[in-house]
Amino acid sequence: MLEIKGIVKQFGAFRALDGVDMTIERGKVTLLIGPNGSGKTTLINVVTGVYKPEAGRVYFHDDGKTLDITGWPPHKVFAQGIVRTFQIPQIFQKLTVMENLLAVARGQAGEGVLNAMREGRWAKQEEELAERAFEILDLVGLGDVWDRYAYSLSAGQMKLLELARALMAGAKLIILDEPIAGIPIAQAHAIFQTIRDVNAKGVTFWVVEHRIDIAFKYVDYVYAMASGRVISQGAPDAVAKDPKVIESYIGG
Ligand SMILES: Nc1ncnc2c1ncn2[C@@H]1O[C@H](COP(=O)(O)OP(=O)(O)OP(=O)(O)O)[C@@H](O)[C@H]1O
Ligand SMILES: [Mg+2]
Repeated sequence: MLEIKGIVKQFGAFRALDGVDMTIERGKVTLLIGPNGSGKTTLINVVTGVYKPEAGRVYFHDDGKTLDITGWPPHKVFAQGIVRTFQIPQIFQKLTVMENLLAVARGQAGEGVLNAMREGRWAKQEEELAERAFEILDLVGLGDVWDRYAYSLSAGQMKLLELARALMAGAKLIILDEPIAGIPIAQAHAIFQTIRDVNAKGVTFWVVEHRIDIAFKYVDYVYAMASGRVISQGAPDAVAKDPKVIESYIGG
């Protein structure tokens, strides 16, 4: 779905990405690991249009077409259905879970739904949007808290709300940078299980995560980076055993 070829990104004299090749396969959950400062977030920033690379290309394959999205601005990348959760405006703490989803649909009559909920007048389009929002909330396990204020959610539920909002925005490829950082272990497993549930509906994932003891149980394919390069790739079992990967963590 995403083909990353020979990406080089410099910050002054420092080469943060040194010729990165990576393929994010459609319908899969791909994990990216690597020590602090290895270039993971920088790579995501290049793909999502935050940084322009000095060299290399990013191709997006969708609907039987190939788009060269290298250097596209973030809103254009987003419009293709490549959604990094923090590209969506932040969660509105003082709105309910449902209202947070409808706010994403702004421009597709999301505000109409909010008014309809308050005034009890429903147009067909508004009803369909609300229905879609409820389906998404059920899928991510937030169906029971749809009318709770966002500020009252647990940290794990807020992550799930971000995921729900990405889906509401029409995401085909969801990019998550450390989705379970700081989340208690049971909830962390629940978040990765939800990623699998959403993936089963056809959404592709590209996830960066440090807590590999948890993440490795849920992903299809792993890339490992160190010092701006890919040093290993393959099935989780194989990458976990790769001496180059072990050494990169021990050597710092
Ligand atoms: N805007 C910037 N200006 C200068 N240097 C930067 C910038 N962004 C990142 N870097 C440097 O590039 C390197 C890669 O950073 P990056 O944030 O991509 O690492 P990472 O793999 O995401 O690390 P972590 O696991 O800690 O999130 C680091 O040495 C970082 O200091
Ligand atoms: Mg990072």
